[in-house]
Amino acid sequence: MKPLVIAGNWKSNKTIAQTKEWIEKFKIQNVERKNTTVVVCAPFTALSSMHPFPFSLGAQNVSMFDEGAYTGEITAKMIKEVADWVIIGHSERRKNFGETDEMLATKVEKAHAVGLKVIYCIPDDVTLIPAGVAVVAYEPVWAIGTGKADTSENAQAVIASVKQKAGVRTMIYGGSVTVDTAVSYIEQPSIDGILVGGASLDAEEFARLITSCIHEQ
Ligand code: PGA
Repeated sequence: MKPLVIAGNWKSNKTIAQTKEWIEKFKIQNVERKNTTVVVCAPFTALSSMHPFPFSLGAQNVSMFDEGAYTGEITAKMIKEVADWVIIGHSERRKNFGETDEMLATKVEKAHAVGLKVIYCIPDDVTLIPAGVAVVAYEPVWAIGTGKADTSENAQAVIASVKQKAGVRTMIYGGSVTVDTAVSYIEQPSIDGILVGGASLDAEEFARLITSCIHEQ
């Protein structure tokens, strides 16, 4: 039974009120016994309203600066109060916010300095991966939010090659994963889990998706 990481990325969705409704409906069992880590990556405002939460929580971005005069930024130390994980390097941040490999490496350093575990996203098998990240997510840009997922066979091939080249231990696939396709990815020998965007927004659907994966184990 290989350990699995199943992460939900809510992106810029859900008010605190909507988050409370989601939590009410999110029911899954036996996750610990099945060696599965569930991480819900929510907006900063929602995160502080989610405790106590029976699974792991993550942020979706972190400042590359420490505290100080950086208007609008949320530091790693602030995140650590409400979450144990952070997504760094998501394609949407690279594209819409001009985040470069260099900036992302600094963000990883800041996250590690306070003990946050990093889910580091890469769009292909040539992008640099900073040392020490806990999980690497392979997310081809064309598959994110488009309904056109990569095949599990191709995801397996890319992930196996990155694992070998970069010496990464845990890798997950993301990009249009649904409740019907989740299992096909985790069945692949090199894929250790999934990063789920759209299909994590509905609590019952996300719970079904996770349950399908843990029953497969
Ligand atoms: P999607 O998003 O599942 O909606 O394609 C995945 C992601 O961006 O992490």
